[in-house]
Amino acid sequence: MRVLVTGGAGYIGSHTVLALLDAGHEVLVVDSFANSKPTVIPRLEELSGQHIPVHAFDLRDADKTERLFADERIDAVIHFAGLKAVGESTEQPLAYYENNLGSTFALLRAMERHDVRTLVFSSSATVYGEDAPVPYVENRDHLSSSNPYGWTKVMQEQILADVAAASPGLQVAILRYFNPVGAHESGQIGEDPQGIPNNLMPYIAQVAVGRRERLSVFGGDYDTPDGTGLRDYIHVVDLAAGHVAALGHLAANPEIAVRAWNLGTGQGTSVLEMVHAFERASGVPIAYEIVGRRAGDLPASYAKTERAETELGWRAERSIDDMCADTWRWQSANPQGFPG
Ligand code: NAD
Ligand code: UD1
Repeated sequence: MRVLVTGGAGYIGSHTVLALLDAGHEVLVVDSFANSKPTVIPRLEELSGQHIPVHAFDLRDADKTERLFADERIDAVIHFAGLKAVGESTEQPLAYYENNLGSTFALLRAMERHDVRTLVFSSSATVYGEDAPVPYVENRDHLSSSNPYGWTKVMQEQILADVAAASPGLQVAILRYFNPVGAHESGQIGEDPQGIPNNLMPYIAQVAVGRRERLSVFGGDYDTPDGTGLRDYIHVVDLAAGHVAALGHLAANPEIAVRAWNLGTGQGTSVLEMVHAFERASGVPIAYEIVGRRAGDLPASYAKTERAETELGWRAERSIDDMCADTWRWQSANPQGFPG
């Protein structure tokens, strides 16, 4: 298939570009570089040995999006493009609603006009909201969130369901990611957050490499085995493979209009377990202190994984140790992230 990857220069998109090329698909990328650097692209080309056409514009520019679909043959779209920082979304809700919903509107319009019928969408475990019991199961009636970023995912899922219901032939796979971490085993590409990292793994990696003094562990008094929060960390290379599996599943099952799958491991790992795993992988002690809970954090979040396993024939294979070793390879070889 010839697959348009929106946000293909970003963290998950870049790893998925490699997985698609490896599986024999053709890829083209659209990215505004709002949260990524163009220097990721030559690395992807070197790793894959293939030229990757890149279109540098904001998807909300409906004319440019329309022209892209008019000029290029596109069989399927994987839609990663969006803003994703939870804290920032509470400070700039309008920017998040505008960007995340606006890019999806422009994309859906162009897909409709050019009869592109396959879409894989990046959603998040955050759509299960605060009250859902763990492990999270896909078949919940009501999705919700505690922040504007999460609401953009809930809303986009609803929009996609409505559009799919009204568009015979359109197929939408909604993939709800748990906590993506890790990096490609080459150490050439990985997560490159701008500014101070919000998420645990990049923060630990930056402490290990000397960019940050110490990790603040948000809360040591949760009702969990060691008192720190439990999350379902998934290796980004496993996550990327889930997208290839989803594309194949839609192609083999044309009756599917819209369906959601969790992409996680089903295992909860605590903050301190992650710190210790990273120390083992890197050989570097990680300075940390336990501080108060972060607003909006849940004690535990992990997936029920059976649906993806039985239907997509996909399961996460890489361990926490693999996630830490690969993150360390990337971070130690690229302490300041991508150049440029
Ligand atoms: P990322 O920021 O690294 O990648 C997103 C890419 O989209 C960036 O390269 C950015 O420049 C681009 N982009 C943003 N808005 C755009 C626009 N309007 N037009 C064109 N390009 C645009 O993020 P990521 O971690 O790779 O996440 C990819 C997707 O997965 C996002 O939709 C995110 O919400 C979702 N997701 C991520 C996580 C996570 O922890 N990383 C978890 C759940 C869901
Ligand atoms: C966060 C977002 C979630 C988003 C996800 C993307 C919040 C409240 N939630 O999830 O909506 O989908 O990122 O991956 O921001 N931790 C520390 N110290 C740190 C950073 C994190 O102790 O400096 C702890 C957190 O309290 C949590 C765990 O590490 O227990 C994981 O945190 P993080 O990586 O930010 O992911 P989530 O909170 O699960």
